[in-house]
Amino acid sequence: MSKNILVCVAWPYVNSEPHLGHIAGMNVPADIFARYHRMVGNRVAMVSGSDMHGTPTALRAVDEGVRPEDIAFRYHEIWADCMEQMGFSYDLYTHTHTKIHEDVAQDVLLTLDKHGYIYEDTQLMPYSESEQRFLSDRFVEGICPACGYDGARGDQCDDCGRTLDPTDLIEIRSIRDGSTPVFKETTHLMIKLSAFQELLEKWVADKNEWRPNVRNQTIGFLNEGLHDRAMTRDIEWGVPVPKHRFEGYDKKRIYVWFEAVIGYFSATKAWAINSADEDDWQEFWHKPDAESYYFQGKDNIPFHTVLWPAMLMGYGGLNLPTDVVANEYLNLDGQGFSSSRNWAVWLPDYLERYEVDPLRYYLASIMPETSDSDFTWEGFLAANNNVLVATLGNFIHRTLTITTRNFDGKVPAPGDLGVQDQEVLDACSQTLDDVATSIETRRFRRALYQAMELARLGNRYLDAEEPWQTVKSNPDKAATTLWTALNVISTLRTVFYPFIPFSSDKIHNLLGFDGETASDGWRTRAVEPGAPLPKPRPLFRKLEPEIVEQERERLLAQQTGNP
Ligand code: MF3
Ligand code: ZN
Repeated sequence: MSKNILVCVAWPYVNSEPHLGHIAGMNVPADIFARYHRMVGNRVAMVSGSDMHGTPTALRAVDEGVRPEDIAFRYHEIWADCMEQMGFSYDLYTHTHTKIHEDVAQDVLLTLDKHGYIYEDTQLMPYSESEQRFLSDRFVEGICPACGYDGARGDQCDDCGRTLDPTDLIEIRSIRDGSTPVFKETTHLMIKLSAFQELLEKWVADKNEWRPNVRNQTIGFLNEGLHDRAMTRDIEWGVPVPKHRFEGYDKKRIYVWFEAVIGYFSATKAWAINSADEDDWQEFWHKPDAESYYFQGKDNIPFHTVLWPAMLMGYGGLNLPTDVVANEYLNLDGQGFSSSRNWAVWLPDYLERYEVDPLRYYLASIMPETSDSDFTWEGFLAANNNVLVATLGNFIHRTLTITTRNFDGKVPAPGDLGVQDQEVLDACSQTLDDVATSIETRRFRRALYQAMELARLGNRYLDAEEPWQTVKSNPDKAATTLWTALNVISTLRTVFYPFIPFSSDKIHNLLGFDGETASDGWRTRAVEPGAPLPKPRPLFRKLEPEIVEQERERLLAQQTGNP
C-alpha cells in the first residue's frame, strides 16, 4: 500500500552561499530518502526553503548597510539555484518571506493563544546603549552557563546545543562593538512550554528507532525541565505579530525559530495550492498513518524535538514528527567549516568546476551520521577515481563494450544458467532488499556501501567468468555471462538512483531502456534478449591527482583574501 511521506529539510539562513558542510547532513540524506520513497511508489512531499528572518540575515544587512530583504533574496537565489543543480528533488523550495507563510505562522500563534498556551510577560532583554536598541539572539555573545563555552549566542550554545535566553549568558557582550549591554524590561509573548513537559516525555519514550544522539539530547533537555520562552523579539525583520489580537507589537516580530519551523506546514500548503488538489496537504498532516521525517544538523535538534512538537500538540490535530534525523558535522580537512574565516568549499564554486554525482557520492559515503566526519580533496579524488571510475564505472563499461562488440550491439540471449550466474542474480535481489531496508531505517552510508558491494561482486564475477575468452571458445556461455552482467547493471541503476540520480539515468540510457529510471520501480528491470544497446560511453571521468594540491592552494588563497 502506498504511504504518504513528508520529507522536511531544515531551512537554511540566507546570510551566505551554501557550502558543503551545509548540504552534507541535511539535503543529501533527505534527497536519498525522498527519491527512494518515490521509486517504491510512495507519495512524497519534500519541502523546504530559505529561513529569511531573524538575526543572521539582519546582522549581515547591518554590516553591508543594505536592507535585510536584499541580503535574503540575494542568497535565496543562489541557494535555490544550487539545490536545483545538485538534483535535490524538492516538491517545493520556497522561503519564509511569503504571504502564505505569514498567514499560516500567524494562524498558529493565534490558535496556540486560543488554546491557552500564549501569555504576555515582561522580560529582561539586552539593550545596547551605543546603538540604542535591543540586541536579540545572535546580536549577543557570552559564556554558556551550562558548559562554559565562550562564544554561546543569545539563542543557543553551539557547543552543547542548549537553547538559551540572553539573560542566561555570562559576560554578555554585543557582537557588533563588544560593548556590554544593559538589561531593560520589554514585553513579549511567551509560549507555555512547561505545559508540554509530560506529553513530550511520553511521546519521546518509545522513539527507539531514533538515532541515540537525537533521543539522548532530547531526553536530556526534558530532564532539565522545560521553561516557558519568549516567542517574540524586539526586531523589525520578521513576521509581524497579529495587530487585532496583540497591542504594542509594532516594533516586535515573531521569534524566527517559532515561525521557521512552521515553514514545513506552510510550504506543504503552498505546494498543495499549486498542485491539482489544494487540500492535498491534509494527506500529509492529518492522516494518522502519514509519516514525517526531519533532516538537519545536530544544532537544530531541540527546535525539532521539543519546540516544534509542543507547538503541534498545542495547535492540535497535526501529525508529530515520525523521526528527527539529525547529523553531526562535516569538517573540512580536520577543521570545522567557517563562513567568517572563509574555510569552506562553496557549492557554487564547486559546481563551476566539477560534476554533481561524484560529490553526491562522496558526501553520502562520509555522511556524518554518528560522528563528525571530514571532507578532504584526497578523499574526494579517491572516491571518484578508485570507486566510481574503477569499480562501478569499470564494471558497467567493460560489460557493455564486450557485449556490443561481440553480440552485434544487442542484448545476448542466455543459455542455461550455471550456479555462479544464479548466485549473482540472487545477489541482485538481496541488494535491492538490503539497500531498501538501510534507507528506510535512515542508515545511508550503509545503504551506499551495500550498493557498491554489488558492483564489486560484478567485477569479481567477470574476472572469474572471463567472457572475453569464452566468447571465442564457448559463445553460449559468454552470452549467459553477459546477459547476467547486464541484469546486474540494471540493478545497479536502481539501487544507485537515490544517491547518484544523474548517473543512474545515464545507465538507464546505456541499457537502451525506454521511459525513466524514476518511474521503473524498485526492481531489476530485466534486459531483453535482442534489444539494441547504444554505443557504450564511460560513466565517470577520472580526475588528475594534481587537483588535491590545486584545491589546497585555492583554499589557502581564499583564506588570506587573494584571488
Ligand atoms: N535556519 C536554521 C539554521 O540554519 C534552521 C531552521 S530549520 C526550521 O540553523 F525548521 F526552523 F526552519
Ligand atoms: Zn553550552
